[in-house]
Amino acid sequence: MRTIIEPFRIKSVEPIAMSSVEQRERWLAEAGYNLFKLPADRVLIDLLTDSGTSAMSAAQWSAVMAGDESYAGARSWFRFEEAVHEVFGFPFVIPTHQGRAAERILFGCTVKPGDVVPNNAHFDTTRANIEYLGGVAVDLPCPAAADPSTDEPFKGDLDIDALAALLEEQGERVPLVMVTVTNNTGGGQPVSMANIRAISELAHRHGKPFYIDACRFAENAWFIKTREPGYADVGVPDIVAEMFGYADGATMSAKKDALVNIGGFLCTRDPSLAEKERNLLILTEGFTTYGGLAGRDLEAIAVGLREVLAEDYLRYRIVSTAYVVDHLHAAGVPVLRPAGGHAVYLDAGRFLPHVPALQYPGQSLSVELYRHAGIRGVEIGTVMAGRDPVSGAERPARLELVRLAIPRRVYTQSHMDYVVEAVVEVFTRRQSLSGYRITAEPPFLRHFSASFEPLEAVLAAPK
Ligand code: F0G
Repeated sequence: MRTIIEPFRIKSVEPIAMSSVEQRERWLAEAGYNLFKLPADRVLIDLLTDSGTSAMSAAQWSAVMAGDESYAGARSWFRFEEAVHEVFGFPFVIPTHQGRAAERILFGCTVKPGDVVPNNAHFDTTRANIEYLGGVAVDLPCPAAADPSTDEPFKGDLDIDALAALLEEQGERVPLVMVTVTNNTGGGQPVSMANIRAISELAHRHGKPFYIDACRFAENAWFIKTREPGYADVGVPDIVAEMFGYADGATMSAKKDALVNIGGFLCTRDPSLAEKERNLLILTEGFTTYGGLAGRDLEAIAVGLREVLAEDYLRYRIVSTAYVVDHLHAAGVPVLRPAGGHAVYLDAGRFLPHVPALQYPGQSLSVELYRHAGIRGVEIGTVMAGRDPVSGAERPARLELVRLAIPRRVYTQSHMDYVVEAVVEVFTRRQSLSGYRITAEPPFLRHFSASFEPLEAVLAAPK
């Protein structure tokens, strides 16, 4: 069959509160035109993030009921630990409440002021945790990542030559080498097995441990299976085992590819590092057999880590993201290509060339998508990255994007058809969209709480 269906049926539903354009215009003004400040029940299709927004399966919900809430050595901990061992193969597993806690503990034990941590592209919290310790987070995306319109299969790859030069020139400052799969900051693009192998060899040649930010590991494995020569007949669990077999450890946000609403973990092969990390864990997260999670959360992760490897699920997941990207591309909408795993990235810079970077085209487009159709995405451009935290100066981001992240197993194809229709409608009258001005902003991470004002009194009225 040509049609790839959602490989599940729905047994529990959550109503979407419908709203009108007039209501949404009022709510936008109340929220200072910042979509983070909207109550979620004023959103029709919420594509703010794929993190913690998955629908759990019946098997996960029944595992939740079997959660053992003992403080130490709970049954649920052993089931969780066994699942992580089985899927990733690392001997030491440290549970955390989410991904950034795993990052904080890893870097807290390895990074000192002046250190340099290379990555294909650091996610915001990864970068912030390194910088908080006085380290420098360096992004080394491959050259193909720079062009949003080409169809290269592994635009998430790390630039091996740049890594070799960095290790050559300032190797003594590098405590570890990282790669993020898939590369969220770079458009959800996958990293090839060949690249993972090459990073591992290079890092080890310089005596450096190699870590994987594993949030979307299963989506990455599916891209390897379907795009990298030699892997078509390899099972997803074996691909995952090979990926992590090259690594010395991993940080994981279970809120993505473990198909749960909260949780994370940190893995290592180094017993003395594991000891240090556990001591830090007890200080701030919790005892070593729960790490800030309830027993029921550990159970749900254990089930989710195995469910996410199912080929029917992964095929549907990756095809449904590509479905939106391909339809938008066919309609002429500038969109990051090829489709990544977890999100659609609209190229707001090319969508609204008449709106200058410092009038925030991504903000304008995301606000208009909400106003027009109740869709909530997130600006990834000058609002998010344009304020230098040290000098305070404002400068345009490299790309002006709007990310529409797709929660796992939550929306159906008709929801996605609605999204495509809304984006195309806004595109046909893009000339009528105005820029924005910031009226109030906090000193850090301004995108979460800044207030805005449209530069024209009437918000994007069709002309
Ligand atoms: N690493 C990557 C690649 C991520 O995408 C995220 C979270 C984290 C680490 C941190 O994990 O949220 O569990 O603490 N990304 C979310 C997003 C928030 O919307 O992309 P966390």
